[in-house]
Amino acid sequence: MEAAATITPAVLILLGPPGAGKGTQARMLEDEFGLVQLSTGDLLRAAVAAGTEAGKAAKAVMEAGELVGDEIVIAILRDRLAEPDCAKGVILDGFPRTTVQAQALDQLLSETGQKISAAISLEVDDAEMVTRISGRYTCSMCGEGYHDTFKVPVAEGKCDKCGHAEFTRRADDNAETVASRLAAYHEQTAPLISYYQDHGVLKGLNARGNIEEIAGNLKRIVSDAMN
Ligand code: AP5
Repeated sequence: MEAAATITPAVLILLGPPGAGKGTQARMLEDEFGLVQLSTGDLLRAAVAAGTEAGKAAKAVMEAGELVGDEIVIAILRDRLAEPDCAKGVILDGFPRTTVQAQALDQLLSETGQKISAAISLEVDDAEMVTRISGRYTCSMCGEGYHDTFKVPVAEGKCDKCGHAEFTRRADDNAETVASRLAAYHEQTAPLISYYQDHGVLKGLNARGNIEEIAGNLKRIVSDAMN
């Protein structure tokens, strides 16, 4: 009897500066491909809200727009990746952000016989990112993201996804912190573009322009990477 083919779950990385649209696009990919979005920013904000040791260590660093220590972030991601829903395949949003994190991810995946399907670099200009971040707000119930100008709810004041009527703005979405976050991206995260180029998994995506148009182009890249 022929052995059943094993399907390795997809591992997609969305690389990009703050405000590039990683979260917006990751949620659309979740719906389209049945993958799980893993945002280290969301995991860290949950840890801060829960007052865990990791959250206490991360709070001030996040408020300053700097990167949280590799050890803390890698531990949080490792725990989340081990949860059963991740067997469907994952979209990493905001991880890795340093070469140390990229190497740790390679190690974690090799332990489970997985590999990176694609590392997709969202390309946008710094000025555009400041505009995007300063207008951002999210549903306080389901986390769906919106923008004052570029993505408003269909029914005014009500979340499109869950109908909730309360929204929140992030504490680190202010001009001063955004400047630090962009500097951290250019210094510590942008080198990962060459890292993944060297590993043969890098895909570039023009992330300027319309959300739906970008989603269409991204969907094509992901379909190719998963086949
Ligand atoms: P994190 O939460 O990851 O924030 P970020 O990388 O700064 O990214 P953002 O969430 O701000 O932007 P996004 O690319 O998801 O854009 P979005 O889709 O929301 O990290 C926060 C902090 O946590 C870090 O500063 C760090 O301290 C810490 N951290 C997290 N991960 C870490 C790690 N691995 N290592 C160390 N520290 C870590 O879009 C933005 C807005 O624009 C939205 O309003 C959206 O509606 C709108 N928009 C999206 N696309 C478009 C478009 N095409 N046109 C117009 N508007 C658009």
